Amino acid sequence: MSNTATRRRRPEVETLISERRIKRRIEELAGLLNRDYAGREVVLVPLLNGAIVFVADLIRHLDFPVFLDCIGVSSYGSRTVPEGLVFTKELRIGIRKREVIVIDDILDTGRTLKAVHRRLQALKPASLRTCTLLDKPSRRQVPFEADYIGFTIPDHFVVGYGLDFDERYRNLRYLGRLNTETSTGSKA
Ligand code: IMP
Ligand code: MG
Repeated sequence: MSNTATRRRRPEVETLISERRIKRRIEELAGLLNRDYAGREVVLVPLLNGAIVFVADLIRHLDFPVFLDCIGVSSYGSRTVPEGLVFTKELRIGIRKREVIVIDDILDTGRTLKAVHRRLQALKPASLRTCTLLDKPSRRQVPFEADYIGFTIPDHFVVGYGLDFDERYRNLRYLGRLNTETSTGSKA
């Protein structure tokens, strides 16, 4: 590619939410959780892989006793196929009669969190709430609302801070909007 073409290209990722704003919002979210769960013991259940960066930062601001156990879930086939989800890692900690908070990176169509919620509810926890870093309500296909939300955003494809596009960009310190005109690969 010529230098001119390189200069004309828009960057692949444009900052949507800075590292500083993420940090501040996580402290606020932790404040809400510390208020709501003060003195209680909670099992945090992050969804692999997208939620790991978020939970790694969030957990260090929590003052109540926490257990941590991830669930692995990924969609197969078309995203439009209902229930096209496969669980790649099950819970190892028993959650019956325990307080549980499911943690995810982004609530999009709602299919993933709805399926996880149904699966965990069947294990009869004392309480079951959801905390998501991002929410894209305009994309919802099944009714589902999170109890704690970091940022509500418009319908952009977002990468960074744990979120990927074809497994790339998870290591960005900020949340970026993927410029689909210049990126390569297919939407995961
Ligand atoms: P849902 O089942 O459609 O709500 O999708 C949830 C999952 O889709 C998330 O946990 C992400 O892995 C992925 N996802 C949805 N939107 C985005 C995005 O904008 N960037 C990266 N991953 C996304
Ligand atoms: Mg994910």
